[in-house]
Amino acid sequence: MDIQFTRHRRLRSSANLRAMLRETHLRAEDFIYPLFVVEGENQKNEVPSMPGVYHFSLDLLNDEVREVQSLGIKSIILFGVPEAHQKDECGTQAFHDHGIVQRATRQVKEAFPELLVVADTCLCEYTDHGHCGIVENGEIVNDSSLELLARTAVSQAKAGADIIAPSNMMDGFVAAIRKGLDEAGYSHIPIMSYAVKYASAFYGPFRDAAQSTPQFGDRKTYQMDPANREEALREAHSDVEEGADFLIVKPALSYLDIIRDVKNNFSLPIVAYNVSGEYSMVKAAAQNGWIDEKATVMEMLTGMKRAGADIIITYFAKDVARWLKEAE
Ligand code: PBG
Repeated sequence: MDIQFTRHRRLRSSANLRAMLRETHLRAEDFIYPLFVVEGENQKNEVPSMPGVYHFSLDLLNDEVREVQSLGIKSIILFGVPEAHQKDECGTQAFHDHGIVQRATRQVKEAFPELLVVADTCLCEYTDHGHCGIVENGEIVNDSSLELLARTAVSQAKAGADIIAPSNMMDGFVAAIRKGLDEAGYSHIPIMSYAVKYASAFYGPFRDAAQSTPQFGDRKTYQMDPANREEALREAHSDVEEGADFLIVKPALSYLDIIRDVKNNFSLPIVAYNVSGEYSMVKAAAQNGWIDEKATVMEMLTGMKRAGADIIITYFAKDVARWLKEAE
């Protein structure tokens, strides 16, 4: 046949050639592993909608953290699940010096001083109405929530958190938290802002896990509309101006274009949050034998890095770190 064409297949002809030319790599250091901590003793309870993810009481937490660290993972993010009777209208347990996350942080940092502990700064797990800010007359009010969020961040830093990750989506939360941290002597503690966080159905399993489903309404007055792309740049821009050190895009899979936009427009480290629903879908399909779990997960997470994520918060972190070790 007398035609002109390019032989792309030349560069795919062997495993070694493909390895040499691979553009994107996953490493255990790329991951932040989420852990849920609960009150009580001897508790290791699997979250029904998240196979392989557990609630840990503090006496069992260090064993889990030791395993995470032995896999080469350098960072965890802690979510506290207080008892129902500890919740109140302003989420007091979020900023209590003996709140579940503060105690967990102190304990983990004492036993594993090198491990990076990220604290999720939000009120929804601690408020009886399940919203991420203060509620007045049925509305989630912005400015009075900021003071409580700043107090939460300071108490987390005081407990030893290395990074503060505010996920509440109130306007001005980065400025308020930066000021609170600086005034309390924590100017060296970075803020990993959930800058671009959509009002997503993919958080469903997390809300089961964290018992943080809103008791009325939804989160659409503070989290973003999934249809919006320009707004993501405005959200990221204001957080950068207010002093964010990292920018999170959340969820990840349905928002790869947003990850790339944020990567191209800002020079801060970009974090993709591979959320609970994205995890549970894969687990469910794998348990049914419908997909190859390992290949699917590796492809998904590689896609997030290729899209521009420098770091990935993922419930798959342990699995991937193990697969990477096996491949060595
Ligand atoms: C708290 C928070 C949420 C998630 C992380 N921090 C839930 C929400 O906004 O409803 C979701 C994480 C996940 O789905 O894995 N605001």
